[in-house]
Amino acid sequence: MTTSETFDELRDWQHALRAQFPIIVANPGLAYLDSAATSQKPQAVLDAVQTYLTTANANAGRGTYTWANDTTALVARTRDRVARHLGDPEPERSGVHFVSGATEGLRAVARDWFPRYLSDGDEIIVPFADHQANALPWLEAQELLASQGVRIVVRELPYEPASHDYDPAALAELVTARTAFVAATHVHHVYGGNMNVHRIRRAVGPDVPICLDAAQSVGHLPVDVRALDVDFVVFSGHKAMALPGSGAVWARNTRGPEFKPGGWTGTPNTTGIASLEAALDWLDAAGPERIERWTVALAARLTDALRNLDAYEVLGCQQSLAADSEVQQRSGIVTFRHRDIGSNDLGFVLSTHGFMVRADGHCQGRAGESDSSVRVSLHAYNTPDEIDRLLTVLRTM
Ligand code: ALA
Repeated sequence: MTTSETFDELRDWQHALRAQFPIIVANPGLAYLDSAATSQKPQAVLDAVQTYLTTANANAGRGTYTWANDTTALVARTRDRVARHLGDPEPERSGVHFVSGATEGLRAVARDWFPRYLSDGDEIIVPFADHQANALPWLEAQELLASQGVRIVVRELPYEPASHDYDPAALAELVTARTAFVAATHVHHVYGGNMNVHRIRRAVGPDVPICLDAAQSVGHLPVDVRALDVDFVVFSGHKAMALPGSGAVWARNTRGPEFKPGGWTGTPNTTGIASLEAALDWLDAAGPERIERWTVALAARLTDALRNLDAYEVLGCQQSLAADSEVQQRSGIVTFRHRDIGSNDLGFVLSTHGFMVRADGHCQGRAGESDSSVRVSLHAYNTPDEIDRLLTVLRTM
């Protein structure tokens, strides 16, 4: 796409793309607005799974007959596919490891890499207002290492209070000669902000490994490890058009020891891997920039309207609700509360009108919101009409 392509110019592209999602096409009266929890799957991914299971289903890395070889090749090919999707400039040095999703991937980094890398007195910096999957694994590892006599200091990645974006100046002040690791999130799963993680490298210096939770960015926008200069990218395939139980850890392997997931992991999720290969093919053909532009524009349509309704409070950066904001780039996630109606009740009412949203605390970490909220999260299959229908219902409450 060209960067000058407007929302209206994307309508034909989006129309053709939406038609590729059987569950969406079969349910025109419903609006799926929970893609941050999991995405729907295009026909190409469903076909790839069917083809794999009916032509080559076997175990990987074991037998020498054709189906086994095909499956082994699929796993190797999908590793390369992940590296390519992430813009990996040095795939010969990096590694791609399949996991069940971002939570397991982040735990694998904490469980399998920390003990080989961290030393007594090292400091790590982690986010406590992001998804708890990007906080709890680091705390569990701290406890485990302490039981082995290795004391790790955990510091909180600082935020700018108004925007909920990270605060690179405050982060730079936290960094010491013992800072050994930073965990960050690419797109916030509640506030919907793109967390400007490209600023972290400058704040922490050239040698500190950075681990990125990309659960809400892979599949939704371009993710380029070279531009971000990070050392781990962890994501869930199921939020990126692939099947549940698929996901990956990309490890750059140039800062600290090589990442090698430990223990016997047994048979890989080959069906999930087949779906992930097809999903990344589909996403790259659809165009992550276009998907981002479309979903951010829909999110802006919703937030701009909600800001004019006294009954609603939109969470996150109040200055960045427009698609072209320079304050903080947005994603396709909009989270809000009604001033008088509880969020769980609001979520239920919306479901009776055919709107599928998430309404709870969204598994946010300990520095997150104390009250629940309603989250609308969008993908390429969503339409302006769905947003307008949702607003019609919200206006009645
Ligand atoms: N992590 C997913 C979410 O934010 C499940 O909804």
